[in-house]
Amino acid sequence: MKECLIAPSILSADFARLGEEVDNVLAAGADVVHFDVMDNHYVPNLTIGPMVCKALRNHGVTAPIDVHLMVSPVDRMIADFAEAGATYITFHPEASDHIDRSLQLIKSAGCKAGLVFNPATPLHYMDYVMDKLDVVLLMSVNPGFGGQSFIPATLDKLREARKKIDESGYDIRLEIDGGVKVDNIGEIYAAGADMFVAGSAIFNATDYKTVIDDMRAEIAK
Ligand code: DX5
Ligand code: ZN
Repeated sequence: MKECLIAPSILSADFARLGEEVDNVLAAGADVVHFDVMDNHYVPNLTIGPMVCKALRNHGVTAPIDVHLMVSPVDRMIADFAEAGATYITFHPEASDHIDRSLQLIKSAGCKAGLVFNPATPLHYMDYVMDKLDVVLLMSVNPGFGGQSFIPATLDKLREARKKIDESGYDIRLEIDGGVKVDNIGEIYAAGADMFVAGSAIFNATDYKTVIDDMRAEIAK
């Protein structure tokens, strides 16, 4: 198994102090910045776009930025986020008219590409595009809001996705997003995830480093 990556979701950060929040969480040991893009159309919430991603790069953030697109249509956001400094760009297959094309657009813009699966979305969307995937992201809550509870059925789905990835022979990360906490990250890791998004668990804590250290300790158990 690859090195595990902890990706705090800035959805739960203090947006009035976003640069400082990102600096602090990276200094606390985070590997990746998870950046949730919501459009009040594909999901019932509205967040941040490429300008904010660019602002974080201009602020001096060099860590990978993991752009999770919860938008429809997908394609017209891709070039803007690539230009703004995104490292990963992931999208929901239901939100794209042409999944293969969207993946190709992300790759040709120089970013890592991924598909995001809602709790009830079947995994077969990945079957014919495995060669274009750098990451598969399983949602363990319905997308749109931070602070929801982990849906337990996602553990079986993770095992299924892990098997598909391993059998494909491709180098694809398995990311999990939603309700990840210190007390469940161990079983989530055991089910096959190697990239962990956590929003409220980290940003609602007073000491980010303690939470991230505790998460790594649970993974290492
Ligand atoms: C939800 C977002 C998540 C969210 C996770 O639609 O994709 O990234 O910020 O928040 P927590 O970790 O609080 O469930
Ligand atoms: Zn997310």
